[in-house]
Amino acid sequence: MALGGKRILLIIAGGIAAYKSLDLIRRLKERGAEVVPVMTAGAQQFITPLAVGALSGGHVFTEIFSREDEQDVGHIRLAREADAIVIAPATADLMAKMANGLADDLASTVLLATDRPVLAAPAMNPKMWSHPATRRNVATLAKDGIRFVGPAAGEMAERGEAGTGRMVEPLEIVAALEALFSEAADKPLAGRRAIVTSGPTHEPIDPVRYIANRSSGRQGHAIAAALARLGADVTLVSGPVSIPDPTGVTMVHVERAEEMLAAVLSALPADIAVMVAAVADWRVATSAEEKIKKTPGEGPPTLSLAENPDILSTVGHHAERPRIVVGFAAETQTLIENATRKLERKGADFIVANDVSPETGIMGGTRNEVRLVSRDGVEDWPDMDKDAVADKLARRIAEMLAKA
Ligand code: CTP
Repeated sequence: MALGGKRILLIIAGGIAAYKSLDLIRRLKERGAEVVPVMTAGAQQFITPLAVGALSGGHVFTEIFSREDEQDVGHIRLAREADAIVIAPATADLMAKMANGLADDLASTVLLATDRPVLAAPAMNPKMWSHPATRRNVATLAKDGIRFVGPAAGEMAERGEAGTGRMVEPLEIVAALEALFSEAADKPLAGRRAIVTSGPTHEPIDPVRYIANRSSGRQGHAIAAALARLGADVTLVSGPVSIPDPTGVTMVHVERAEEMLAAVLSALPADIAVMVAAVADWRVATSAEEKIKKTPGEGPPTLSLAENPDILSTVGHHAERPRIVVGFAAETQTLIENATRKLERKGADFIVANDVSPETGIMGGTRNEVRLVSRDGVEDWPDMDKDAVADKLARRIAEMLAKA
């Protein structure tokens, strides 16, 4: 049982959903977990420490400046000795404090002092949940590695209000917590280093214009995140994209192919290289220092192009070649022939090939249908979202490394 023997610090914040936390305590205890409750002042307006303590079977922590509590355990130990922290309900106010590093009561102080995984089950009025301030805070917390479960959609406690904001049911919180623990135990890439490239490169023509490939960075970023989830120490080298940096990776932001290559080489040695970036094949041989002006009667300027370094091929043939080198092939015709040739030419172990003809909607979209080309043959993967492709590829890489 995933929760057996685990010590869960349960932070109960002030919301009507606090009544469900009583049931959550029961469910956690049924599964063999030890529950250490912390209640905010707000929570105590909804449920009593007496009820919480009766169910948890131990001390309920409520005060930051309680001499007994501090002497007994202390907020730092509370924060560190848990196997995980669950916040249920997580109110807009508590999340705002967390996002900004405020620590003015026991719950927020513990959350600032902890290095343990934190799972938050938000509960609030739908208008509060959709407010830009809450959206910003949730995005910040997600980036900080806080996990969320819910909120769910449905009727609110306030009469006649509906929308997203209800805390999910206790059993869903339990399931999310179990998933968090099984993920934490499942780290086949622990101790491995990986380099991933993602996004396009921008090759300047002059200070305002550039040449680029189409690429959202979604697939590359998803792969970096998936490798990190499996425990790898990941450096993600990305060209300009509009999506957020994934959590748990070392980011290097670059613009040009030459900068991308330099960043990749300086991240060597590594066990894994996955080159997903849509690198511009050419750069402007000498980009103009000043903006090129339209001069009437002179017609358009002529651009002279120089070839960019092939990053995948450089890594694939490098003296410090990573054990597993993966490239992508975005093609619009003769997919497999092109991918197989690329495998040889670029010194890769795998080429993830996809058909990016405009009608597939893969470019810029969230889904991908790929074929994995290796020396052993071609595997067709079903149509999946880019996160699922990333997970499957990361697993495959872990298996290969385990064999190698
Ligand atoms: N790639 C790279 N550096 C480059 C060009 C490509 O690292 N300068 C990598 C991409 O990240 C991808 C793979 O090479 O993993 C395939 O890129 P693609 O542009 O399709 O390959 P090309 O060699 O340009 O082949 P073609 O022109 O035939 O499409």
